[in-house]
Amino acid sequence: MASRFLIVLYALSLFFVLAASTRQYPRQEKVFDVRDYGAYGDSKRDNAVAFTKAWNDACQWSSGRSTVYIPAGIFYVSQVTFTGPCKNFITFIVTGTLLAPKNPDYIKQEEWILFKYVDNLTVTGGGLLDGQGSYSWPLNDCNKNPSCRTLAMNIGFAFVRFSRINGLRSINSKMGHFNFFSVEDFNITGVTITAPGDSPNTDGIKIGKSNHMHIFNVTIGTGDDCIAILDGTSNLEISDVRCGPGHGISVGSLGRYKDEKNVQGLTVRDSIFNGTTDGLRIKTWAKSVSEISVSNFLYENIQMINVGNPIIIDQQYCPHGQCDSPGKYASHVQIKDVKYHKIWGTSTSKEALKMQCSKTFPCQDVELSDINLSYVGSDGLVSALCENVGGSIRGKIVPANCEI
Ligand SMILES: *[C@@H]1O[C@H](CO)[C@@H](O)[C@H](O)[C@H]1NC(C)=O
Ligand SMILES: *[C@@H]1O[C@H](CO)[C@@H](O)[C@H](O)[C@H]1NC(C)=O
Ligand SMILES: *[C@@H]1O[C@H](CO)[C@@H](O)[C@H](O)[C@H]1NC(C)=O
Ligand SMILES: *[C@@H]1O[C@H](CO)[C@@H](O)[C@H](O)[C@H]1NC(C)=O
Ligand SMILES: *[C@@H]1O[C@H](CO)[C@@H](O)[C@H](O)[C@H]1NC(C)=O
Repeated sequence: MASRFLIVLYALSLFFVLAASTRQYPRQEKVFDVRDYGAYGDSKRDNAVAFTKAWNDACQWSSGRSTVYIPAGIFYVSQVTFTGPCKNFITFIVTGTLLAPKNPDYIKQEEWILFKYVDNLTVTGGGLLDGQGSYSWPLNDCNKNPSCRTLAMNIGFAFVRFSRINGLRSINSKMGHFNFFSVEDFNITGVTITAPGDSPNTDGIKIGKSNHMHIFNVTIGTGDDCIAILDGTSNLEISDVRCGPGHGISVGSLGRYKDEKNVQGLTVRDSIFNGTTDGLRIKTWAKSVSEISVSNFLYENIQMINVGNPIIIDQQYCPHGQCDSPGKYASHVQIKDVKYHKIWGTSTSKEALKMQCSKTFPCQDVELSDINLSYVGSDGLVSALCENVGGSIRGKIVPANCEI
């Protein structure tokens, strides 16, 4: 009798708990199709307003997860910002193509498409972002004008957390393609980024002041860095990258401005650089004001195919003749605990291994092991240039003449 009573009581209480929880947390997913907000995939009409309205409704949907859906078609967008915080997990599916204006003056923000202050965002769908940069590249004079005008990057994520991009293509940005600023816990996979090798400043992925990011299985070929890592970035894991053409995976330039933050905890592994000007590069300004450090790096299992500078640390960076005389300044950035393990392949310059560290802050704990790089030219042998480098060499490495 008592036990039956208990079972009934248990069932009743379970019912009330469930009823209460469904009242409090109904789980209802909802799709917000941009066509229901007046979007047209006719490559002509501006969809900025329609996209913003669809986003706002999805973002405010509190009864469950929401999805903004962009179907097949070519959707012209002048510029758009998707702002959070949102009420729940939100997915942004791009199936078709988003087309940027040809005229760079139509974009008055740093990124053509920007997500900011959002948590738990997924961007996916395999669609394409076309920056139409070929119309503005001829206006770019940044290689000779230090105060040149900056043009919009294709897509930006600022103050975005616990989020991911999975399967998205980006071509021909006006300047860089993907920009990450102050993001946390962010994964990037299955992304393909393409721009001609001679297109100016078309960085693939640019990261600043961000931490706990994973980048894997990406293909990047552009006219600038495949991945550029700027100050304040920590715990960044990169693997399965196919990079080229482009300028490789670069840390920096660092040290030029005050209030810069350290860069720590970078892993790059299982990747291929093909026909890039640089491979694994760390670059700091000779004339520097911030005393920051670059530490705890591991570069492992990386193949170089016809790469200009496969391994390079340049602490004498000073373009456009901005230092009054070469050798006058020494970088204040401390590089330490950087490991290069199993790096092999071909270099198009004789100095396949080049580390020019700061006189006043020599590199510390640099470890080289299992390096085998050869020079593709016939006018000499492969060699190393190592200045102000402290650390160790394990086993045999080629080129062998690096003094540590
Ligand atoms: C995002 O996810 C985290 C971890 O699952 C959760 O704590 C947080 O409430 C979520 N925020 C939103 C807006 O969904
Ligand atoms: C990112 O990927 C890692 C490793 O696969 C996983 O543990 C983590 O939960 C992912 N984070 C997000 C935000 O998707
Ligand atoms: C890598 O990304 C491509 C899309 O660029 C996808 O087709 C492929 O399945 C992914 N591979 C793995 C191992 O995830
Ligand atoms: C390297 O790039 C060249 C020229 O684009 C291409 O022909 C070759 O197949 C690539 N090699 C690999 C291993 O991807
Ligand atoms: C370096 O690689 C070449 C082939 O590119 C190979 O013949 C040579 O034995 C390798 N050397 C070492 C020390 O692994």
